[in-house]
Amino acid sequence: MKVFQHVSDIGNLQQALAEAMEIKADRYKYQSLGKNKTAMLIFFNNSLRTRLSTQKAAMNLGMNVIVLDVNQGAWKLETERGVIMESDKSEHLLEAIPVMGCYCDLIGVRSFARFESRKDDYEEQILNQFIKYSGRPVFFMESATVHPLQAFADLITIEEYKNRTKVEPNPLFGGEAITRVPNKRPKVVLSWAPHPKALPQAVPNSFAEWMIAAQTGIEGGLDFVITHPEGYELDPQFVAGAKVEYDQMKAFEGADFIYAKNWSCPGVTRPADYGKVLGDYHDFSEWTVGARQMAVTNNAYFMHCLPVRRNMIVTDDVIEAPTSIVIPEAANREISATVVLKRMLQSL
Ligand code: CP
Repeated sequence: MKVFQHVSDIGNLQQALAEAMEIKADRYKYQSLGKNKTAMLIFFNNSLRTRLSTQKAAMNLGMNVIVLDVNQGAWKLETERGVIMESDKSEHLLEAIPVMGCYCDLIGVRSFARFESRKDDYEEQILNQFIKYSGRPVFFMESATVHPLQAFADLITIEEYKNRTKVEPNPLFGGEAITRVPNKRPKVVLSWAPHPKALPQAVPNSFAEWMIAAQTGIEGGLDFVITHPEGYELDPQFVAGAKVEYDQMKAFEGADFIYAKNWSCPGVTRPADYGKVLGDYHDFSEWTVGARQMAVTNNAYFMHCLPVRRNMIVTDDVIEAPTSIVIPEAANREISATVVLKRMLQSL
């Protein structure tokens, strides 16, 4: 694997899940694979989970790891070609990228949408330069449009929980154990939720892409539904084939997994609105996932990629419930990253 960006890069999903379970059973099984190999993790934006889980994954594989926060300690980078470099940006990305490539075997990059131009964001201007000029395999650690390490971890989590009939008390917050009757073909709902600031579409894009692939690509399949207010339609390249239900309560009926996430306007129907929060977010408070919506589900598990704003995206009681699996979901980031780095090492 030379690039990890889309679900198609991982190939057969059932095989990928089998590898994830193999790693989970023995996460150091491939310790010798990364000996004398170096992973470089480059962050243009903040991170907690991606930074730690990917570093841990590289260590599981016996790799050395270099982490670079581009905005702390490195030269300020110019990213546009053709610019007369007379500002405070001392180095051009076109030199910086091949230099970074000199010191490592694999490169992971996090670079969020800038919301300056939909075209630039959706053409993945930054990540594509890393693919073109680094000379190394590149894995996306959340780009302008995708977050595949998260979506893979989400799929692993759904696979682990979909057949469980006993929900234990939440290990952190308690609550009562319940028995749930799983659907043979679980219903997975991606729900938009309000947020005060404009957030990128990378997480919902990737989640949709992976869930659509899983509808037919994993044993038993699943049914995938997206719900959001009008105007927040995701880009067709990620959601073609998905059912969209604008009535959130209707979408939640009988659901087995609720995946809450905010995203700003993708600009599909009105390009001028790209990257905007439409209207006043206070007017969308009924979209906050709470007990009212969860009551119509099939005792659904609650998921979110984190970080999450409580009582904005989800109420305290839902995220603290026994059916909340946000922590195991985050733990699976180590597993998805280990599988991806293993595949990349194997194809060096
Ligand atoms: N979910 C996720 O990618 O978390 P971080 O932004 O903290 O890395």
